[in-house]
Order: sequence, then structure tokens, then C-alpha cells
Amino acid sequence: MPDETAYLIPDKRVRGNGAYTRKRATVLGGLTTVLAFAFVVFVFTRDRLSTTVLPWAASSTSEDPMAVALQLMEHSPIIDGHIDLPILVRSLYANNLSTDSFDLHAPMPAHVDIPRLRKGKVGGFFWSVYVSCPDPALEGPDFLNATWRVRDTLEQFDVARLLINKYSDTFELALTSTDVKKAIANGKIASLIGVEGAHQIGNSIAVLRQYHALGARYMTLTHTCHNAFADSCGYYPGKEPLHNGLSSLGYRLVDEMNRLGVLVDISHTSDATATDVLKYSKAPVIWSHSSSRAVHEHVRNVPDNVLELVGTEDGKKDAVIMVNFAPAFVADPGQATLDVVADHVDHLAEVTGKQHVGIGSDYDGIDSTPVGLEDVSTYPALIAELYKRGWSKDELAGLTGGNLLRVLEGAEKVANELQAAGTEPAYDLYEKRPDLPSRRHQEL
Ligand SMILES: *[C@@H]1O[C@H](CO)[C@@H](O)[C@H](O)[C@H]1NC(C)=O
Ligand SMILES: *[C@@H]1O[C@H](CO)[C@@H](O)[C@H](O)[C@H]1NC(C)=O
Ligand SMILES: [Zn+2]
Repeated sequence: MPDETAYLIPDKRVRGNGAYTRKRATVLGGLTTVLAFAFVVFVFTRDRLSTTVLPWAASSTSEDPMAVALQLMEHSPIIDGHIDLPILVRSLYANNLSTDSFDLHAPMPAHVDIPRLRKGKVGGFFWSVYVSCPDPALEGPDFLNATWRVRDTLEQFDVARLLINKYSDTFELALTSTDVKKAIANGKIASLIGVEGAHQIGNSIAVLRQYHALGARYMTLTHTCHNAFADSCGYYPGKEPLHNGLSSLGYRLVDEMNRLGVLVDISHTSDATATDVLKYSKAPVIWSHSSSRAVHEHVRNVPDNVLELVGTEDGKKDAVIMVNFAPAFVADPGQATLDVVADHVDHLAEVTGKQHVGIGSDYDGIDSTPVGLEDVSTYPALIAELYKRGWSKDELAGLTGGNLLRVLEGAEKVANELQAAGTEPAYDLYEKRPDLPSRRHQEL
């Protein structure tokens, strides 16, 4: 019987040799068996045995790239690193889910609804609980004046979680890599939560701990603004650095994210921040939605010299770069197409290896889309294009979701180890805060 779930974890070799790998293989082997069983039960009950369980046996002669993509995505669906549905619901419906015209089962404005997610073979995505950077003039140069970003972020968590519950026929909240695999095996769309910038934690590592408790499994270190922890790349070239990468509090934030098992996301950060994180983080990291600067010059894209730090060899960090579809990031005005996005995927893979690339479309967060990648129903066309370009089925299964799952498992392992070793939470406070007793207090 073909091992269906193997494609969710395509590359067990990537972490090298030794006892760790063997132990991991045993654990994965057990897990794979359980999941394969679950998957088969699911398929049987859905009466789709002939087309789903034995896809290669049924159609080993089929070379139509779209047919190959669709079959592969049946068991290796897309897990997208960045979808902005919650901010769309906030801006268009003021988070009122009983608004008459609001129905995720019907055609929605922009790029995401349930019929199109199903057509696009989506098995999971990170729901971005984004809120914008504060007005710098109001927040002040030291980020000290009160803003509503924490309130608004909590409202974004609320609406994401309400939606996942309201449409529980489709979505299932996922807090771990195992949850993701279970949701997919159950025919659900695994729903992970990501926070898009440390401006959303109000300079407080304690707030990050509470977001983790609400389900956050990545946080982007910055959005387009600098914050107390790290420098952003901004949106236009030439943004003045503030810390030249991570601040000292930023290093403690990374420590805490490693301890909690919240993936450190370095999309939107400056190259110096990304470099600091790649050298310092104990856990694998992600770019939840970024493309290649060598293919198209844009500060939001990742340059090759930073990509050189990605890998599993000594001195490198395991990571996945999840390609952003935003037309402004992938090509000159009017030139963004599926083909160009495939060029970004290919280039990132050339520099880092195919096991380090994923998909982070930014759907619902971008105001236009590349030709051929109009919405979440179109992912199979991209997978078909890459198959045409010579990607194997196994490599494509990594790109659609397996690579992200490997990185998430890696972060979970580091968190378990740190917690087992009794690592204390980071109690560090932003040194410029005037409201809490400072270290002076301890000296009294
Ligand atoms: C939400 O939308 C429904 C339908 O349009 C409306 O009847 C209801 O008053 C709205 N709720 C709030 C609190 O605005
Ligand atoms: C920030 O708050 C301080 C203290 O309330 C106030 O004096 C200052 O004007 C504020 N700065 C800005 C930029 O609003
Ligand atoms: Zn973004």
C-alpha cells in the first residue's frame, strides 16, 4: 500500500545521521502508521478509494501536469504561511459575522472563501491576526505612548477563532504539527494563527506568552515599522536602521519564542535582523511570506547572501522561505504572472535547496494578484508549472506543506527540550518603560 502520509514529511534525510535521526525515524514511523490508518478510514468512509488511496497505481501513465498536481495535492495539500482573511473581515464587516452578505461558503470579496479553498487543494494555512503599525507621531520615537494595537490584535484573534468555530465543518484550530496532520487526515483545513509584527505585543514579552496561549504559533518580528525588539526593512529602500538588527531585548524575545515553540518569522525584517536571527535562534525559522531579491529587487524580498545562512549543515539554520505572490514584490508593474512566481520558487530552491521553500501567498492582504494566481483556487496551477520544470512529486510535497511541517516539528522539539531543561520564561522588561519598578528596586 502506498504510504500516503510520507508526502507530508518528504525528507527525513535532511537532518543528517546519528541516533537522533534513528529515534526520529522510529517516532515518525509510528506516527505515519497511525495517520495512514486514519487517512484510509477517512477515505473509505468518503467512498473515494479508487481515486485517492492509490493515485500512482491508478494513473502512473498520466503525465498531464495539472492531473499530477491535483493528485499529489489530494494527500499533500497546500499549507499557506500567510492569509489575511481576519483583516478583511475586520475592514469590510467590522467583525460582525451575522452581516447578511457574509458567508464563507459563498463567493467572498478578494481571494479566499471555502469553495475556492477546496478547489485549490488547501489543507491548512496560517490565519494572520495582523493589525497595522501605529502612527509613529502618536507612538513616539521610543514606542512608549499607548496605542490600541494590543486591543486590536485581541479582536483579530477573536474573529479568527470565531470564524474557525463558525465554520467548523471546514476549519480545525491547529496548535501543533500533529494537529495539522490530524486535521488534514480528517478532511479539514488546519487553521494555525500567526501574529504579524512585534508592534502588536506592546513591547512586552509577557503579551507574547498570552498570544501563544490564544494559539499563536508564529510571530513576525516586525511589520513595516521598527519596534523595541528589531529593525524592519520597511517598504521602500533606504529605511534608517534603529538597532542594526535585533536589540538586546529582541534576543530575549527570540529566546522566549524558542522556549514557547512560537516560530520566529523574519519576513518584513531588515537583512541585519534576519541575519541575527538565523545566527542566534535555537529553533528553525520561517519567512511566512517573502520572495527572492535576486529575481526582483525589493526590500521585502530575501537576498541571496541571507539565504546562504539557510540549510542543515553546521553553521546554517533550517528554515523555510514561503513565497509571497504580491505583484509589487515579484515583478515590475504589470509583469506579475504565475511563471514569474515559479521563477522565485526556483531561484530560492537553487540557493537553499528545494526542502527550504514553501508558499506564503498573502491572499486577502494584497490588492492585486499575478496573472494565473488570482485566488486560493489557483495553487494547483503553480504546482503543475513546477512539475513541468522538473520538480519531483516528493519535492513538490515538501513545497506544498511538508517543509513547513518539518520546521514546525523542529521548533516543537527545541521548545520541549528547553522546557524539559527547566528554562525560565524571559522576565525581561523594555528598559525605557517608566511604569514598572526597575532593577533599582531589587537593590533596595
Ligand atoms: C450584525 O449584522 C446584522 C445583519 O446585518 C445586524 O442585524 C446586526 O445588528 C449587526 N450587529 C451589530 C452588533 O451591529
Ligand atoms: C507621549 O506621551 C507623553 C506623556 O503623556 C506626552 O507628553 C507626549 O506628547 C506624547 N507624545 C506623542 C508623540 O504623542
Ligand atoms: Zn506582510
